[in-house]
Amino acid sequence: MTFGDLKPAATDPLLGLMSRFRADGRARKIDLGVGVYRDAAGNTPVFAAVKAAEHRLATGQTSKAYVGTEGDSEFVSLLASAVFGGALAGLQLAGLQTVGGTGALRLAAELLSRTRPGRRIWLSLPTWPNHVPLFTAAGLEVHGVAGFDPAAQRHRTEALLQALTGAAPGDALLLHGCCHNPTGVDPDVGFWENIAAEIAARGLIPLIDMAYQGLGRGWSDDGAAMRRLAALPNVLIAYSCDKNFGLYRERVGALFVAGATPLETQTLLSHLIALARASYSMPPDHGAAVVRVILEDPALTRLWRSELDAMQGRLRSLRDGLAAHGRIGAVDLGSLADGHGLFALLPLSPAQIELLQADHAIYLPPSGRINIAGLAEQQIDRFVAALRAVQHQLAA
Ligand code: LMR
Repeated sequence: MTFGDLKPAATDPLLGLMSRFRADGRARKIDLGVGVYRDAAGNTPVFAAVKAAEHRLATGQTSKAYVGTEGDSEFVSLLASAVFGGALAGLQLAGLQTVGGTGALRLAAELLSRTRPGRRIWLSLPTWPNHVPLFTAAGLEVHGVAGFDPAAQRHRTEALLQALTGAAPGDALLLHGCCHNPTGVDPDVGFWENIAAEIAARGLIPLIDMAYQGLGRGWSDDGAAMRRLAALPNVLIAYSCDKNFGLYRERVGALFVAGATPLETQTLLSHLIALARASYSMPPDHGAAVVRVILEDPALTRLWRSELDAMQGRLRSLRDGLAAHGRIGAVDLGSLADGHGLFALLPLSPAQIELLQADHAIYLPPSGRINIAGLAEQQIDRFVAALRAVQHQLAA
């Protein structure tokens, strides 16, 4: 067969929404869709630390020759020190640069699937809409567990733990390290202890998606669950620098892996390098070089951290501003004060979400996820009024 019988592929819900928002000519439009940080003026600025690093690279870089399949190893090692801190010395981790956090997830999924065809991966739903297509495309068998109670805004961690009684040794388990996407609700410390014990007892392989460090409770606290799980053997950590360095389109990420022994870790790394070579050969250099330049220089590191902390502060004050409105129909905005990071999941029907777009020029994906950073402080009242209006017009 050639391509004549192909039907068009479905558009990704977040990327499709991004195009529709761009095409909307209404000046008052508000984009609460794709997970990109925005400042109070609605812009996604380049960090001053990134600009300074880019200037250094523009003037000082002497070659554009290939770096290699692992990417910039200095970037990987500086990132590992920043991310794991003092815990790093006691960990068995090795890592390589990847094409963003998604590239790291895909590489991890390929490793899982090539080393055991049809391997199962467990995950709690709802999750980032690209997780299931990505794992399925890599040949994994996805087992989703309904793991969130939207009315109570809490994870049904007991449902996940119960489902894992059906897991077999060598099954993988996806976990969001912090700032859960799409709910914005992170499990408590007790959950991480329980899940670590469960992983160890059942011989599972944890795959941690870490894309928002620094945007929730702060750099160190956001990394606590990941550092706890990184001490387990056979762990995979897909790390994205897209949001916390504001480098989205540069696609900067890393995949860290630990085997049961140092030799096993090196063997796993060699397989990841081979998979990357057969896939995209080498990651792009620029974004990772920018992160390396920032992390090499204590002054630039301080500047970057202060910019990241300011983003976290704005997200916190937006959450508090929304939460002050309390319950609007079925939507308890009050609970947003307990969440972290860019997202919250609102219990709205698809028809109400369509009406928000049609009548109020407010864009969110069909899941009801909002990117809180898409709001300016002075738009909160209009957003709350629109939430009230659509629920009044269309009871769910
Ligand atoms: C999101 O969830 O909006 C981001 O991670 C962007 C993406 O690639 O979907």
